[in-house]
Amino acid sequence: MQDFRGKVAVITGGASGIGRAIAEALIAEGARIVLADIEEAALATTAAELSKAGAEVHPVPTDVTKADQVMALAEAAEARFGATHLVFNNAGVAPIGPILETRIEDFRWVLEVNVLGVAHGIAAFGPRLVAQGEGHIVNTASSAGLVTVPGFGAYIASKHAVVGLSETLYQELVGTGVGVSVLCPGLVATRIFESERNRPGDGGPSDYGDAGEAAQAALFEMGVPPEDIAAHVLRAIRENRMHILPSPEVRPVLEERFRRILAGENPQDLGRIADA
Ligand code: NAI
Repeated sequence: MQDFRGKVAVITGGASGIGRAIAEALIAEGARIVLADIEEAALATTAAELSKAGAEVHPVPTDVTKADQVMALAEAAEARFGATHLVFNNAGVAPIGPILETRIEDFRWVLEVNVLGVAHGIAAFGPRLVAQGEGHIVNTASSAGLVTVPGFGAYIASKHAVVGLSETLYQELVGTGVGVSVLCPGLVATRIFESERNRPGDGGPSDYGDAGEAAQAALFEMGVPPEDIAAHVLRAIRENRMHILPSPEVRPVLEERFRRILAGENPQDLGRIADA
């Protein structure tokens, strides 16, 4: 896909961060947007802001952990705009904590949002895109889907799953006219380490002390603007590129990981983001 003018893009997690930046970049290219997010107030505000300059932005409150809501999102997109061409399975959460201290409820939450949320998007939109013989699916994983670091075990497990799922989907959809990409950024200045704002009520507040706050502060300081990531994403869709690696600092770590795996060496100690 080269020209986004008039194309319809559905973006989950679109009320904030990377999802919002992708929406802005696509609007600048003349696309029409269906914006989905679990945070209804933020979604309404973002949609109103993005449509100020005349863009067509349709907000649909959606919890990606619910298959029926993601199916309803696909139907809402079709009802509003007639078709969907681009799907961004981008909603994600990142609770922080060493694996031995991570509650099973938090494993379940992060896997349901980050992995099943993507699977629900693929199930709802994939057959529609294949039937029309045109489209592109971008799943947001992370550099945490390619490399490992202490303190984020549940998140890392979820993002490795998204990379594996996306590569397999790419292979299965070759020749259908539907492209698949997986986005694997390093640090991006968003509110991802404030994910607990969307944590389901049954688990109670975080047990992990100030690690989340420290990580969020480090992220705002060290992360690249989400707009930079969005530009990489649009370029990758145009090039029909499967792996989107917008963060150069990840490459040597990735090379070193696979070198060690192939050499039979144990993983290197990369420290914790919260200590950065
Ligand atoms: P963010 O917190 O600014 O945005 C995430 C959005 O997802 C929020 O608007 C939130 O309300 C929404 N969301 C959370 N749970 C949801 C659910 N159950 N259903 C629907 N929407 C839900 O964070 P960011 O960074 O923009 O996150 C977007 C994606 O990028 C995530 O998948 C994240 O894991 C990934 N990512 C972020 C990186 C970073 O450094 N910020 C690096 C690599 C990947």
